[in-house]
Amino acid sequence: MSRLHARIGTLRQLEIFLAVYDGGSIKAAAASLHLTQPTVSMQIKKLSEAVGMPLYDLLGRKLVFTEAGHELSLTAREVLNQFERLDMKLARMRGLTTGTLKLAVVTTSKYFIPHLLGPFCEQYPDIDIELTVGNRQKIIDRMVMGLDDFYVFSHPPKDIETDSIEFLDNPLVVIAPEGHALAQKKRLSLNHISKENFLMREEGSGTRYAIEEFMKRQGCALNIRMTIESNEAIKHSVMSGLGISILSSHTLTYGGDAGLVRLNVAKTPIEAHWHFVWLKAKEHTVLGQAFLEYVQREGRPLVEDELKKSGIH
Ligand code: PGA
Repeated sequence: MSRLHARIGTLRQLEIFLAVYDGGSIKAAAASLHLTQPTVSMQIKKLSEAVGMPLYDLLGRKLVFTEAGHELSLTAREVLNQFERLDMKLARMRGLTTGTLKLAVVTTSKYFIPHLLGPFCEQYPDIDIELTVGNRQKIIDRMVMGLDDFYVFSHPPKDIETDSIEFLDNPLVVIAPEGHALAQKKRLSLNHISKENFLMREEGSGTRYAIEEFMKRQGCALNIRMTIESNEAIKHSVMSGLGISILSSHTLTYGGDAGLVRLNVAKTPIEAHWHFVWLKAKEHTVLGQAFLEYVQREGRPLVEDELKKSGIH
């Protein structure tokens, strides 16, 4: 005898059986499915033959389901639920052929965000992406105005009602130019670096916020000699001997770190994590929902792979 799934006529039979099971009678099932009672009986008879066992007994006019009937109801429900999920996914894909996904991300995350967007755009070639890059304060301002679908921070604002998913580690590391005297030392304390000329990101930067919070916790001060508005400019300034700095290791991984060394300083790297954030009050678009699912399902391994390839993490 062939296997059960090959003997069962159609998914429609399973649906009819579930209507009988849930409704408790052929009559109730026929009414709910807008079928005649003989049609329902006929389909149930076929199903019972395919299973090779009765699905219910008749006690007077009442249907009493057999063990096989109960088991079949469980499987039928699972199968039909799976199809319902597939249906929802397909509907979403159909709605996804066009549309714009708006992202606003802090400058430091611009190193890995494109690696995420590439494969997503390949899956949905007709969508548009608007990517805004700015420092933490600029991205918070956009968030307050509700301008975008998603925001990427490592230090999301605490006073705005948001939901978020944590995405990846974002360690902040101490950097110095190659050949710097401190680079010879195996282990440094925060006191060592507090005396050095320090190059700091601008007011409103998340990197600066993280460094300041960390130094406050450690009861330490920095000797800030220059304020610079970009990670790249800080790297080049460090390379050219203007001072040392603390930056996200992502800026080195993706941006290249020739001419720079990481200092092995106690209590560092400063621990931080990337977050995908959205406003609680704003409902996701179909495209936004698909992007979020993609980030959760594929995004993390994808970026982790990129980081591994770079050999730095
Ligand atoms: P920034 O933000 O680019 O504003 O420094 C980075 C972060 O939030 O860690």
